[in-house]
Order: sequence, then structure tokens, then C-alpha cells
Amino acid sequence: VAAGPALTDVGARSVAFYGPNQPGIARPELPQAYGWVGAFDLVATADRAALGVLLKAWTTGAAELMAGHPLGGADDTVVTGLGPAALTVTVGFGPSLFGRAGLPPAARPEALAPLPGRWDPLRSDGDLGLVIAADDAVVVAHAVRVLTRLAAGTAVPRWQLSGFNSARGSGTEGATPRNLMGQVDGTKNPRATDPDFAAAVFARDPGWLAGGSYLVVRRIRMLLDEWDRVPVADQERVIGRRKDSGAPLSGGSERTPANFGAAGPSGGLLIPADAHIRRAAAAFNEGAMMLRRGFSYVDGSASGLLFLAWQADPRRGFLPVQRSLATVDALNRFIRHEASALFAMPGGAAPGGYIGQSLVEGP
Ligand code: HEM
Repeated sequence: VAAGPALTDVGARSVAFYGPNQPGIARPELPQAYGWVGAFDLVATADRAALGVLLKAWTTGAAELMAGHPLGGADDTVVTGLGPAALTVTVGFGPSLFGRAGLPPAARPEALAPLPGRWDPLRSDGDLGLVIAADDAVVVAHAVRVLTRLAAGTAVPRWQLSGFNSARGSGTEGATPRNLMGQVDGTKNPRATDPDFAAAVFARDPGWLAGGSYLVVRRIRMLLDEWDRVPVADQERVIGRRKDSGAPLSGGSERTPANFGAAGPSGGLLIPADAHIRRAAAAFNEGAMMLRRGFSYVDGSASGLLFLAWQADPRRGFLPVQRSLATVDALNRFIRHEASALFAMPGGAAPGGYIGQSLVEGP
């Protein structure tokens, strides 16, 4: 058995909080092994000052916890002996925040419009969104608890979803992860080294969203009993990639660009017309790009994907792709979108400032 990193190495990794972008979006330490996404609603009496106090408390709390410093609460012992384990906390605003807490409805960017569809309200939307992730599940649970406590009196939890990825060190370093359908998932993501990475992921909106990003959250159930009955060759045609290597069915290896025009000896398309990667590809969706960084979930007998997609503008990222997939996608037989949310995640904070400051206080 090859030696993996010592547990202390996993715990010792920390991600810097302050900077132009919130670090939970695109830092190379991501994705971590455990993720939690939750939404909060402001209480009816919360005004702009109260919102500012909450965002300051979340900013300080996030910076301290990410540095591995407990906040001096009764629950500090939960993480005694543990490092920050690459903890990141990312804060955002839902469409419904605008018009509340004295924020004018007109301050809401056009791109922050409620996503189409009818969703279970108990698991969707919300005024404030938080994404908390780390390589240790106890570290995540503690940060969730601390940040929820800091919101008391101003915002109440609306819903929360948790998920996981493979643990750091349990597989080949740098390999694309697999989802619970057994597919290599994340191959065709924009990469930090791509020249158009920032343009794809970070919002170009002026003002309070500068350096920010839009996050689409979907709880997508996988119908695994249905899926498991399908022969592997057919499963591969559903996605358009090989299940073992993740290579496109047009040939090559995982990173070989898909050749959507390639045909087999009988003249049929090697990547079928309804294959997921064809229907989702930027080339067929007016260049739509997004950074998909989700987590798997298991919730009783239900399993699936806690889909998280970051982009500069959902109207040029998630929305056109989802419209295409909703129309035709061989994967639809095997998945159900169950809950949905959209948040605008503002830019990062400088020391002494706080996340969302220029929205709350004005430029
Ligand atoms: C449970 C649901 C889903 C599963 C299991 C799934 C799985 C996959 C897999 C295995 C790939 C190929 C490898 C890769 O490039 O990552 C892929 C590609 C992709 N998926 Fe999904 N996906 C799901 C939902 C979605 C949704 C909701 C969207 C966006 C609306 C989406 C957008 C994409 C995009 C943009 C690609 C890259 C296409 C390309 O250019 O090759 N996927 N997905």
C-alpha cells in the first residue's frame, strides 16, 4: 500500500481568507472532502444595520476558523486537536434579500433573478447563502454550528444540504473525481490555468459584486436502481464518455477533446445526439461556461449530486445549458432535480472590511 499523507498534514492545511475573491470559489485546495450548503432568511425586524453586523460577524468568524483559531465559544472543544483542514466559508445573497433589510429592490443585479421552475420551498432559495467545506467533517459541522449561532436574532436557517467527495490522499493525486453513478465527473471544467478562466467564473458586474461569482445550487437525485440495470456500453452513450477512463466516445484519453462530428463504421454518431456532454457543451450553447464543483450526497435511501456551479453570469452559464438539458438529455431518465437556489457571492474582503460591505453601506 502506498503511503498517503499523514492525517496531521490534512488537518494542517489552511486557506487564506482575505483577498479580492472569496477563496471558496476557485482556490486550488478545492474541492474539499466535505461540503455543506445552507440558506438563511432574515427575520422580519432585521434592518440594514443588523445585516451589516451579521456579515461582519460571519467575516470575522470565517477568517478565524479558516486560520484554525476557535472563537472562544462553548463548542470550541469540538475541534480541539484538529487543524482547519482547508476550511473555506463562502457567503452570498439570494434574490429575495433585495427589498428586505432596507436594500432597494433595484440594487438586485438583473442576473440575480429567481431561477425558473417550481421547487420545494423548504429546500430551495433563501435570503443568504453559505457554503462551508473542509477536508474534515467535524471541522465542517463545527463551522456550521458557529456561523449559525452568529446569525441568531438576525437570520434563521431555511434549509441545508451536505455532501462529500473522496478524501484527500485516498486516490491518485490530481485525478478527476467520480460521482455516485461511477462516472469521471469534472473533466471539461474550466481550469485555473485557462486564459478565459476568470472571465468564465468571476462576475463582471460593477459595484458590490466586483470579484464575485454567481452560484447555482441543485439537489439532483440519482435514480441508481434504474441506472444499475443499464449495460455499461449504454451508460457510456448516455454521457458520451467511457466509464472507466472518462475518455470521449470519439476516442483518445480523458483529456482528448470530444469530436462531436465523429461517426462509426455504420455512419452513426460516436457521441450520440442526446448524450449529456453534447447537450451541455459550450460549443452548442453559445459558449456557456461554468465551474462545476459539487459534492455527492447520501440521504437515507436517496443518493445524488449536490450540484454547485460557479459562473460570471447564470444567463451565460447555467441557464442556457440547463435549458438544453431539460429539452433533450439521455441522462434525464436517471436523475431528478429536487431543489434549487441561486446566490450572488460578492468579492472577497480586505482585513478590516467585511463581505458584502459595499452592498450594505453603499460604494
Ligand atoms: C446528477 C446530474 C449530473 C451528472 C451525473 C452529470 C455528469 C456529468 C459527466 C459524467 C460529465 C462528463 C465529464 C465532465 O466533463 O465533467 C458531465 C459533463 C458536463 N455536465 Fe453534467 N452531470 C449532471 C448534471 C449537470 C447539470 C445540471 C449541468 C448544467 C446545467 C451539467 C453540465 C455539464 C457540463 C457543462 C459538462 C461538460 C460538457 C462538455 O463540454 O464536455 N451537468 N456531466
